[in-house]
Amino acid sequence: MSDIIDIRDQSHLSGEHIVNLNFIKDSDRYVFRKYYRFGLRSHIFEVLLKKDIRTESCGKMADGIRVFPRATPVKIFRILRNRFENLDAVFMEIEKYKMLLKILGPDLIAQSEEFIVDYTGTGGRQVVLCGLQEYIDGEILDPWRIFGPDYLTDIYRFFTTDPARLSARVKTAQKNIEAFVQKIREMITCTGFIPDLAGIGNLVLMPDGGFKLVDINNIKKLEFDDTIRLDDKGYPSCDVSIKVLSILETQLLQKNIADNDVLYRFFLSPQRVKKVKKLEKDFYRTLS
Ligand SMILES: Nc1ncnc2c1ncn2[C@@H]1O[C@H](COP(=O)(O)OP(=O)(O)OP(=O)(O)O)[C@@H](O)[C@H]1O
Ligand SMILES: [Mg+2]
Repeated sequence: MSDIIDIRDQSHLSGEHIVNLNFIKDSDRYVFRKYYRFGLRSHIFEVLLKKDIRTESCGKMADGIRVFPRATPVKIFRILRNRFENLDAVFMEIEKYKMLLKILGPDLIAQSEEFIVDYTGTGGRQVVLCGLQEYIDGEILDPWRIFGPDYLTDIYRFFTTDPARLSARVKTAQKNIEAFVQKIREMITCTGFIPDLAGIGNLVLMPDGGFKLVDINNIKKLEFDDTIRLDDKGYPSCDVSIKVLSILETQLLQKNIADNDVLYRFFLSPQRVKKVKKLEKDFYRTLS
């Protein structure tokens, strides 16, 4: 059987997951498809090459066998669901992303080209914030499933079984996570802001030991007072992000935290944690 596909035949490109966005020019090279991972705050699409989708659905010959490799995104396209009151609010959101990038640096964040769209698809006019972001291949680091010091080794077994390579990648990942924790602490001290570390899928471990924050919105001011602030979805994301930071430090990196650590003493005091747990429960109840 031939592996050459008639490129005039577009039938294999149709399907409910492929979308046409009316503010994006038709392209004969790229296709936007809903990404299989998702969150609450953004619509996430993978930007794929049409030729890769064809290969995904029609296959290609490799050593005499027809294989169907999944198309790898060239970019991730994000449309923030948040409706902004005015342009200043959008620019503020972009400024916060730039601040995050400046502090974390390109090695610890999925870089994004943020842009604004004047969306008229629903009849009226809406200011919509979008981002064309680098695609980060890898495994999600789920802070709620770290059950001991072997967490990273277990994850990296997915990528390699060679003992020397495995150990080198785990070490690289540890170094990157250490740098990440340090820079988030620096961000809190210098700017008072903290990104959202709490959402599932926000942190990704890459096959080579790289580590990146991919969720670059929902950056919030951390207030050192008794009020536990909820984000626009009703979630105590600042408090839970501090908890995640502490999990990375203590459970994943096995660090000892000084008793007088101001950040954790304040945000992880037993009374406050209890209140946060209750707010989280309320949040999940409204979801279901
Ligand atoms: N640049 C990227 N590369 C790879 N995966 C990504 C990228 N951006 C987002 N994802 C994945 O898509 C999913 C949703 O992303 P993200 O958390 O940024 O969306 P969100 O709707 O803003 O989330 P939340 O509900 O936490 O606010 C996550 O599982 C994340 O790992
Ligand atoms: Mg998220």
